[in-house]
Amino acid sequence: MAKSPISMTVNGRATEALVEPRTLLIHFLREQLSLTGPHIGCDTSHCGACTVDLDGKSVKSCTMFAIQANGASITTIEGLAAADGTLHALQEGFREMHGLQCGFCTPGMIMRAYRLLQENSSPSEEEIRFGISGNLCRCTGYQNIVKAIQYAAAKMSGAEVREAAE
Ligand code: FES
Ligand code: FES
Repeated sequence: MAKSPISMTVNGRATEALVEPRTLLIHFLREQLSLTGPHIGCDTSHCGACTVDLDGKSVKSCTMFAIQANGASITTIEGLAAADGTLHALQEGFREMHGLQCGFCTPGMIMRAYRLLQENSSPSEEEIRFGISGNLCRCTGYQNIVKAIQYAAAKMSGAEVREAAE
């Protein structure tokens, strides 16, 4: 099948590639760019494991073609930590509050939470639960995921983080 040139910014780097029109963004990220943080957890656009940030929105990267992302700016979980390796507050929060078990949902969950906190820096528990309702986790029961996001929100606002994980 004929390939088309695309260019985009991925995790701050200018990226150019040739893609088939049928290539999904998740396959492009994982197979052509070797960014395997975004996961594939379903065939139905339900699980959110493939979530990335695209031009300031959370996007399930299995729901669009790579060619549709031409010209876009994309951040995946690989682009969240600082260049020196310092974890983002959300990554730290998931670690400190035990917000993961198997970890399969975690990259998508963190990227969704990243956009949530960009849009609402001090969300209520209800707003967090609604905000991540498009991302499924079959391990944790969500309680510590919510705490991890609250931890990050508090840290990003400069507040002291007191509550320990259960
Ligand atoms: S892989 Fe499940 S929503 Fe994309
Ligand atoms: S930690 Fe296993 S699916 Fe969420």
